[in-house]
Amino acid sequence: MATRILFDGDPGIDDAMALFFGLLHPELDFVGITTVFGNTTVEFATRNTLQILEAANRTDVPVVMGASHPLLKPLAPRWGRIHGADGLGNQSHLYPTPTTRPLDVAAATFIVETVMANPGEVTLVPVGRMTNLALALRLEPRIVENVKEVVVMGGAAFVPGNASPVAEANIREDAHASNIVFSAGWPLVMVGLDVTMKVPMTPAYINSIAEIGRPETDFIAKIAPFYQQAYAQFHNSDGTIYCHDAYALAYILNPGLFGITRVPVYVETEGLCAGFTVPDTRNRWESDSVEIGICTSVDADGVLDLYRDTLKG
Ligand code: BDR
Ligand code: CA
Repeated sequence: MATRILFDGDPGIDDAMALFFGLLHPELDFVGITTVFGNTTVEFATRNTLQILEAANRTDVPVVMGASHPLLKPLAPRWGRIHGADGLGNQSHLYPTPTTRPLDVAAATFIVETVMANPGEVTLVPVGRMTNLALALRLEPRIVENVKEVVVMGGAAFVPGNASPVAEANIREDAHASNIVFSAGWPLVMVGLDVTMKVPMTPAYINSIAEIGRPETDFIAKIAPFYQQAYAQFHNSDGTIYCHDAYALAYILNPGLFGITRVPVYVETEGLCAGFTVPDTRNRWESDSVEIGICTSVDADGVLDLYRDTLKG
């Protein structure tokens, strides 16, 4: 039976690449997509999600617009440089304005109602700032016992961050929300930079995706170059990219491709280290942090084959 997933993201080029991958995989059943500020404004992220679903001919998937800013801190917009002003490498004008609309409901309410209506069945997949999930937890704490699993793209435990020396962007940009999500006590797996930066999509690999020649891969071929140029500029890469969000879906589809270190993790919320997902490797019973599964190793070729084979169909 397909895994029922509620995808919470900020498309976003790698979010879009994840969505096309997930929507095409027969073992994933999208029960909804909630959006959040992050790679772009929540308005653009929502519009992009609708555009992606139209391009993938999947307008059956409900979309809900979520948080426009962090829980406590003022919004510190950083969009533009990595994903383009529109979140899709400034290519969204190439696609028609979506004719579909988001549902008229709060994202936290949608998350709560979806989880509570399907006890033990829904896997939450936050691949953006954790704000919507934190609000859902505040609204209905019993979602903790009623989710199947929470698979987060975010965090950096044993490797450097990308938004600060120690913090990954999804965790740092709303560290208070991330702390709520990480300390909730639900079954949580972190697919963070510890593994996502070990799965490179080279220019040759991206070309091989573009050559597949279906609407989903044509879309990817249009948006990937902006992300490649950003990686070249900011990470000194040769156009190799890291498609973080897609790897969270790869974990759900085949957890055997990943190695897990299970330790308590604390999310720092303040100061220079805000957003650091601190692994407590002391293995001491008195740790007051909640144990989670951190993906620390990955079969990169296995993930890349899974991604490309799925897009080939
Ligand atoms: C994460 O941050 C966002 O910019 C990406 O979409 C990804 O979810 C990587 O740090
Ligand atoms: Ca994202």
